[in-house]
Amino acid sequence: MSKPKIGIILSTTRETRFADRPAKWVLDIAKARGDAEYEIVDLRDYPIPYFDAPASPRFVPITDDAATKWARKVSELDGYIFVTAEYNHTIAAVLKNALDHLYDEPSRKPAAFVGYGAVGAARAVEHLRQIAVELSMVPMKAGVHINMEPLLGMLQQGKDFADYAYLAPTVTTMLDELAWYTQTLKAGRDSAETRAAA
Ligand SMILES: Cc1cc2nc3c(=O)[nH]c(=O)nc-3n(C[C@H](O)[C@H](O)[C@H](O)COP(=O)(O)O)c2cc1C
Repeated sequence: MSKPKIGIILSTTRETRFADRPAKWVLDIAKARGDAEYEIVDLRDYPIPYFDAPASPRFVPITDDAATKWARKVSELDGYIFVTAEYNHTIAAVLKNALDHLYDEPSRKPAAFVGYGAVGAARAVEHLRQIAVELSMVPMKAGVHINMEPLLGMLQQGKDFADYAYLAPTVTTMLDELAWYTQTLKAGRDSAETRAAA
């Protein structure tokens, strides 16, 4: 059986973003496990215009090329790790816009969260959990929250994740939960497909 595919989604796009550092850190920890194929999915590679379709993608297929490419990528993945900042107490608009262009693609798949910000982007992550439910994803309880102290330490004092050793175990806990749901939900989707084809 092939390994499940997990996308680590970089959810901000500005030139001087911090997002690359937590994404690479999580990718390295995840890859060492060997339990799934982990890959970075960078919203910079999907320059989707602001949502302007006549109706929700539930009713009207998306036609924009970048949005279609994004939806295809989301569809081919079995689970997601959203690496998210907090902009004005919620997720970045570029991520919300990308999510608004989806409907079925992430359905019945697990979503995990890595937040960075003053309070570890906890408010953004909670919003993202709500959005995930509306898109029929299964949000994970275990999250990774990179708070003010490590964030400023890395942004302003040349520190790195190795200086905050207490954070890595939170990634492992999150990945353990994600692995269980990824396998279980994939089995459920596969068996539903088999029944539908019979
Ligand atoms: C428009 C904007 C709004 C922000 N609002 C918040 C906020 O509500 N809470 C917070 O903890 N940090 C906030 N910040 C600071 C971000 O945590 C910090 O800039 C972080 O590096 C942003 O992620 P990025 O570098 O990946 O873009 C905000 C930053 C920007 C650019």
